[in-house]
Amino acid sequence: MGGRMPVSEAIEKPGTDGGAAVLLHGGAWDIPPGQHEAHLLALRDALGSARGVLEKDGGALDAAAAAVASMESSGTFDAGRGGVLNLDGEVELDCGIMCGRSLDYGAVVGVKRIENPVLLARFILESSDGSARILSCEGAERIAAENGFTLVANDKLVTERERVRHSELRQRLADYHTSHPFLASDNVPRGTVGCVARDRGGRLAAATSTGGTPMRPAGRVGDSALPGAGYYASGSAACSATGWGEAITASLLAGRSVDGVEAGGVPAEVLCAVLERMRTSIRNRDGRGATGGLILLDFEGSGAFAFSTPHMARAGWSEGGEGWAAV
Ligand code: GLY
Repeated sequence: MGGRMPVSEAIEKPGTDGGAAVLLHGGAWDIPPGQHEAHLLALRDALGSARGVLEKDGGALDAAAAAVASMESSGTFDAGRGGVLNLDGEVELDCGIMCGRSLDYGAVVGVKRIENPVLLARFILESSDGSARILSCEGAERIAAENGFTLVANDKLVTERERVRHSELRQRLADYHTSHPFLASDNVPRGTVGCVARDRGGRLAAATSTGGTPMRPAGRVGDSALPGAGYYASGSAACSATGWGEAITASLLAGRSVDGVEAGGVPAEVLCAVLERMRTSIRNRDGRGATGGLILLDFEGSGAFAFSTPHMARAGWSEGGEGWAAV
């Protein structure tokens, strides 16, 4: 089948007070060594944003939105500013956020001109009467404009790094003529970002944001805006996923992870099992098992991360402990 067996690590909550906690990811792929330091810096900044909210008795949703917005603005990841470009050379962003206690969620698909899709998704979560929770393209942008969000020229979200990558990939596609299996391998960016947070009141939230996959056709929808696929939160656990969106969606990666913990599973074991099931049941276009990464927190603030790629950018903090970041 190929691909790596998933590895995981448990994050145990300190003490028994069930304090606030947060876990982040900045994508699971073969992150080049030259980008590790930038990833670590951006993860630490995002962790600080979430921690700042939680230490002031803020809510899990606010913390998750703050961390994801920080990563979207950093220019480091495949999300917000710095998102990978579609075939037409444009940024198009997907994002979703969910409250574990109410099961309310808000999401945007294929949005342009918005640096922080997570803040718009958060606005939809809060303002929706339940009749519309995932808004796409111009409809989402209209809601943003009508509600005080700043719309920027879409080019402002394109970084030089992604412009160069797009022209190199365009050349490789031309060389291949028909197929492009390299696009599904671990060494193209899958820097989707995500956060799971637990506040002092025991509320859980999950958020995931992405610039999608490189050279996808315009209008392609991945997993990151779809609850149950790229993110899910219940009263018991919150989860965010990263990896190849088509495989994640077919595997219901985040929803199955939360289900597994609700059924009494140990978080680190559940995440490995869910990733391994995806790896052994779905092949990427390169013929190898589909890979990805997951973070999960449960209602006590214990959690885990797991990934089946060479690297996953990740960070965490729980009350009474030190923050950490790793690639
Ligand atoms: N996981 C992000 C995407 O495939 O769009």
